[in-house]
Amino acid sequence: FPHPVRSFFACLSILLVLFYEVTLTEGSRVFETWKNPPPPIFMQYFFFNVTNPDEFLAGAKPFVSQVGPYTYREYRPKENVTFLENGTRVAAYQCKTFVFLPERSVGDPDIDMITTINIPAVAVMNKVKDSFWKSSLVSIWMNSLHVGMFMTHSVNELLWGFKDPLLSRIHPMNPEIDEYFGLMYKKNGSNDGEVVYHTGEADFMDYGRIARFKGESKLSLWTSEQSNMINGTDGSAFHPLLSKKERLYIFSPDLCRSIFMEFEKDVEVKGLPAYRFTPPRDVLASKEENPANEGFCVSPKECLGSGVLKVSVCKKGAPVVVSFPHFYLGEENYTNAIEGLSPVREHHQTYLDLNPTTGVPIRASKKAQINILINRISGFP
Ligand SMILES: *[C@@H]1O[C@H](CO)[C@@H](O)[C@H](O)[C@H]1NC(C)=O
Ligand SMILES: *[C@@H]1O[C@H](CO)[C@@H](O)[C@H](O)[C@H]1NC(C)=O
Ligand SMILES: *[C@@H]1O[C@H](CO)[C@@H](O)[C@H](O)[C@H]1NC(C)=O
Ligand SMILES: *[C@@H]1O[C@H](CO)[C@@H](O)[C@H](O)[C@H]1NC(C)=O
Ligand SMILES: *[C@@H]1O[C@H](CO)[C@@H](O)[C@H](O)[C@H]1NC(C)=O
Ligand SMILES: *[C@@H]1O[C@H](CO)[C@@H](O)[C@H](O)[C@H]1NC(C)=O
Repeated sequence: FPHPVRSFFACLSILLVLFYEVTLTEGSRVFETWKNPPPPIFMQYFFFNVTNPDEFLAGAKPFVSQVGPYTYREYRPKENVTFLENGTRVAAYQCKTFVFLPERSVGDPDIDMITTINIPAVAVMNKVKDSFWKSSLVSIWMNSLHVGMFMTHSVNELLWGFKDPLLSRIHPMNPEIDEYFGLMYKKNGSNDGEVVYHTGEADFMDYGRIARFKGESKLSLWTSEQSNMINGTDGSAFHPLLSKKERLYIFSPDLCRSIFMEFEKDVEVKGLPAYRFTPPRDVLASKEENPANEGFCVSPKECLGSGVLKVSVCKKGAPVVVSFPHFYLGEENYTNAIEGLSPVREHHQTYLDLNPTTGVPIRASKKAQINILINRISGFP
């Protein structure tokens, strides 16, 4: 064929191969990598060690020093993979396991001690604040157990769980309250629940898109239809033929919501061209700055500023707020309120480098910070 025709056919055949390859069907090349992702995933934890807890309680600005990383290799095989609806959907559980990697960590998680906000105590105080009798009782227990606003525990305890004195005191009367607390308590070897994905068989643009999470096609945590939508993929797969103009949605069970990413720049990873997609400031902006976020502010008097998302609704009512690390893309007053924070794009930005033709992520870095919102609670000193 003459040259233009030849390249047209070459192009067509590449597209055909692509479409054939990017659907999830038993035996397809993408199926195996989707089911058991071969590239290593490293989960790194950093802690803010509060270095002046006593001065802070007396009214001073808090000082924190960042400690980390404590690195774990994360394994995420998909289990109980079941094809549904004539192969147009597939259901799976993503089972996460964490194995500690000492050579990629700064210290020994059994030995290194961190002083931080006493999360169980703050959660309990918040829970009982509307009952005079309950808060008086908890206040007495906290006194007799010498439980205060801060706690000091090893990295291992903070992550994987420790027996908390206050929770243990409450447990006999409220067996539904666990005696143990840990940020990742019971998360090793666990899954987030059943996820049903589109396979791309019906429409390749739907490849990897989440259809249902725990049996539901939308959430019911937030206060608007828009906020409750389960949009996009889980971040490990995207449709082929990406455009620089599109918004890529990702549903994150950790954040209890969907977020979106936009094109930032062209990059190259090991010789492969890629588009860098990153969440813009709009994603976590306050409802004043981005009215689309109105539904994420569950009770009007608790609406926060830009760059933070209160996720109490999916953390059993505990005052948990998520943000990017060091309040990156957040309001300056949050960063300025704490000594020891300095947001830097290179360190704190979440991004995905995607091959534009196939939609395959060739490098990715997802980052988040967990914050605890503390208020003065009447009944407690
Ligand atoms: C945290 O800070 C305390 C003092 O405020 C210090 O004793 C401790 O070693 C620090 N922890 C780490 C892991 O650096
Ligand atoms: C997978 O299926 C087996 C057998 O039906 C079941 O015992 C197991 O709990 C399932 N795994 C998950 C993660 O639900
Ligand atoms: C599956 O395919 C059959 C035959 O093509 C059709 O009758 C049936 O409605 C399809 N089922 C679903 C759930 O799409
Ligand atoms: C998680 O479980 C696996 C095996 O089930 C174990 O090898 C690993 O050490 C555990 N990780 C942690 C942090 O306890
Ligand atoms: C879901 O996508 C729709 C557009 O398709 C958008 O209007 C809505 O804000 C998105 N919701 C979330 C939570 O991402
Ligand atoms: C930062 O400003 C927002 C409103 O712009 C306000 O809601 C929030 O309380 C402020 N935070 C701090 C730590 O001052």
